[in-house]
Amino acid sequence: MAQACKTAILISGSGSNLQAFIDAVDKGAINLELCVVFSNNPDAYGLQRAKKAGIPTACVQHGDFPDRESFDAAVIAELDRFNPELVILAGFMRILTREFVAHFRGKILNIHPALLPSYPGLNTHQRVLDAGDEWHGSTVHFVTEELDAGPRILQGRIAVVPEESAKELEARVQAVEHQIYCVAADWVGSGKVQLRDGKSCSEGRVMLNPIVNKY
Ligand code: GRF
Repeated sequence: MAQACKTAILISGSGSNLQAFIDAVDKGAINLELCVVFSNNPDAYGLQRAKKAGIPTACVQHGDFPDRESFDAAVIAELDRFNPELVILAGFMRILTREFVAHFRGKILNIHPALLPSYPGLNTHQRVLDAGDEWHGSTVHFVTEELDAGPRILQGRIAVVPEESAKELEARVQAVEHQIYCVAADWVGSGKVQLRDGKSCSEGRVMLNPIVNKY
């Protein structure tokens, strides 16, 4: 088996996606080594999940810095101590600077709770319900300078159930996220999927559309 890909996971909150990664690594389902869990929030529950799993943690609070640039420079310095080959944003509630994206270009992934390019931004579940959409889901994509707009890799799609609440919909989307994020990260970690010339490529071929898993 190839060397496991050294992976940093960045969180701000509960870290249920982080837990999915921890469980998948434990099971041997993905070939990633979780080298650090980083948070900008010392109270993030995900830090406790990481400690319980014996993964190193790091925390830098954005409130301690005068601007985004100096905060991101501190985060880069902290992450570089662990030499990550992959940076996973898992509910990391900070907008990244161009410098951060450039430093880890092609190595940063995000998961967004909508079928991008529909519904970038916040409050996606309620917006989907308000629009009366039939389908919803989540998207794993490479992170580029533009928020929620980097090349897409994998989507998980579900049918919206009539009358369900935003909370119920969110829970179902999250269950999908826990499956697709690990899979997509493993593709990138193994080199099967890469960012090339601003596009997602799978085994050297440009992906015109993301892979869609239907649930
Ligand atoms: C996920 O729903 C993800 O789509 C969004 O933030 C949420 C993080 O949840 N980017 P958790 O902290 O992994 O539970």
